[in-house]
Amino acid sequence: MNKIIIALDGHAGCGKSTTAKSVAKELNYVFIDTGAMYRAVTYSFLENDIDFADPTEVSKALDAISLKFVFNPEKGLGEIHLNDVNVEPFIRNMNITRRVSDVAAIKEVRQFCVIEQQKMGKDKGIVMDGRDIGTVVFPTAELKVFMTADVEVRAKRRLKEMEDKGEKTNLSDVIADIENRDYLDSTRKESPLKKAEDAVVVDTSGLTIKEQVASILNLAKKKI
Ligand code: C5P
Repeated sequence: MNKIIIALDGHAGCGKSTTAKSVAKELNYVFIDTGAMYRAVTYSFLENDIDFADPTEVSKALDAISLKFVFNPEKGLGEIHLNDVNVEPFIRNMNITRRVSDVAAIKEVRQFCVIEQQKMGKDKGIVMDGRDIGTVVFPTAELKVFMTADVEVRAKRRLKEMEDKGEKTNLSDVIADIENRDYLDSTRKESPLKKAEDAVVVDTSGLTIKEQVASILNLAKKKI
């Protein structure tokens, strides 16, 4: 079977990672959550008190960072390791979420992450989700999907996830965060979030995860 690259881009909180994970599992492909890489860099910068506005400090900080995904057989997926430490438990909270778009807008940070992502996808057979996968990381990906959904639907789903994890928040804060991140991600100078010309748009507002997965598998099977 022909191995392809599936690029899944789109707005914050529309189910990209959950969908990508299941699509990868069905196809026996590798799943890469590129948001986890930007979150891990943000975590490292905050822990080390790095001044985001100082390019020299940023470059020095990046030189000291190594990122890799390590497969967790219990969970059946790769977890992000920062300098050989599993940082998954620390990167999904509101503190990181509020700062990640600022860090992801830095040119040096993007170059650093994109090089790693391109290495990870060189043998194809990969489902990569993010914001610039179809436009910048793999502009020749065989399948590009741009996912979106109504902001309130996205926020309600995200709120439920957070509540399930025991995080305290409320709907209006989650809506504000999602809108703010979409705004920052779409208007930044470096690799802004936008639909690749040849991407298929999937609006997940009225879809269950199962339906989202099925629609992407259908598209993928036409290319494999
Ligand atoms: O996908 P997730 O919501 O975890 O991504 C967190 C943030 O990382 C995004 O809001 C965006 O600022 C950044 N990101 C990015 N490019 C990617 C993936 C994520 O700029 N390819």
